[in-house]
Amino acid sequence: MTDHLPFETASPAVGPSVATEAGTMGPTGRPMPVLPEPKPVTHHGGARVVAMCNQKGGVGKTTTTINLGAALAELGRTVLLVDFDPQGSLSVGLGLNPHELDLSIYNLLMQSDVTLDEVVVETGVEGMDLLPSNIDLSAAEVQLVQEVAREQTLARVLRPAVERYDVILIDCQPSLGLLTVNALTAADSVIVPLECEYFALRGVALLKTTIDKVAERLNPRLVIDGVLGTMYDGRTLHGREVMERLVQAWGDTVFHTVIRRTVKFSDSTVAGEPITTYASRSTGAESYRQLAKEVLARWPGA
Ligand SMILES: Nc1ncnc2c1ncn2[C@@H]1O[C@H](COP(=O)(O)OP(=O)(O)O)[C@@H](O)[C@H]1O
Ligand SMILES: [Mg+2]
Repeated sequence: MTDHLPFETASPAVGPSVATEAGTMGPTGRPMPVLPEPKPVTHHGGARVVAMCNQKGGVGKTTTTINLGAALAELGRTVLLVDFDPQGSLSVGLGLNPHELDLSIYNLLMQSDVTLDEVVVETGVEGMDLLPSNIDLSAAEVQLVQEVAREQTLARVLRPAVERYDVILIDCQPSLGLLTVNALTAADSVIVPLECEYFALRGVALLKTTIDKVAERLNPRLVIDGVLGTMYDGRTLHGREVMERLVQAWGDTVFHTVIRRTVKFSDSTVAGEPITTYASRSTGAESYRQLAKEVLARWPGA
């Protein structure tokens, strides 16, 4: 894969609309498939573990974790969100103050006498819980280096959660260091959010190499669920070109669902809740609901 940008050609095939109804042409320039209505869940557990991963910051990892999680919870899935970034943005985005946590994922990783139940907190969304984090987690990155099976630590502590939840979404930090390798080792699959900007594809080759290495050496079941275009602005040629370039490079790995740029996402972060409850009927909320359906359609047996 190359990542030469800006583009040599414009993209006449991609229209400005963000229409996403079945059969219409969406911003990816491909016809929108009919997404099956998700099956109701009768028995919880056997979680699909998904790492939200891109070593670039500000691409929509945390926003996607919160809102995809909330949309899956609306569909009756029990969801655990894992804040795996010492910045604690996911915890903040769900209304917590990271400085005031008694226990965080750091304690769960580093102290064998701390249990999952002691660290998990409920969110304002029914069926969605959170393993919060704060700056303590940055120490774990250093301390884990000396641990036996250091790459498997997160997978080990999440084992009881896998038995209980339907979906576990891990919000990774913007790096490809040991914490992210732990997330990829714990995961069944990866979702890669990419900002629809020039140079968005820069670094994606390195991310792919890291995912391949983890799959080869640590976690053979790891697959990429999809690449998600975020902060899309269909009014600019630029935004449409980036989408087309993305589809050229990644083909059907690119989700048909694209997340438009809107200030409602930062507003909902300030409010400490997902956009699905903060602005339930907004395009942003609807896009994440559509993503939830598209993601479920890609998961075997979901
Ligand atoms: N679709 C979007 N439109 C507008 N702003 C967005 C969108 N998605 C995320 N943001 C904002 O961009 C910033 C970075 O997003 P975030 O999800 O925190 O990225 P990351 O976790 O990859 O660093 C946040 O302020 C967030 O509110
Ligand atoms: Mg983040």
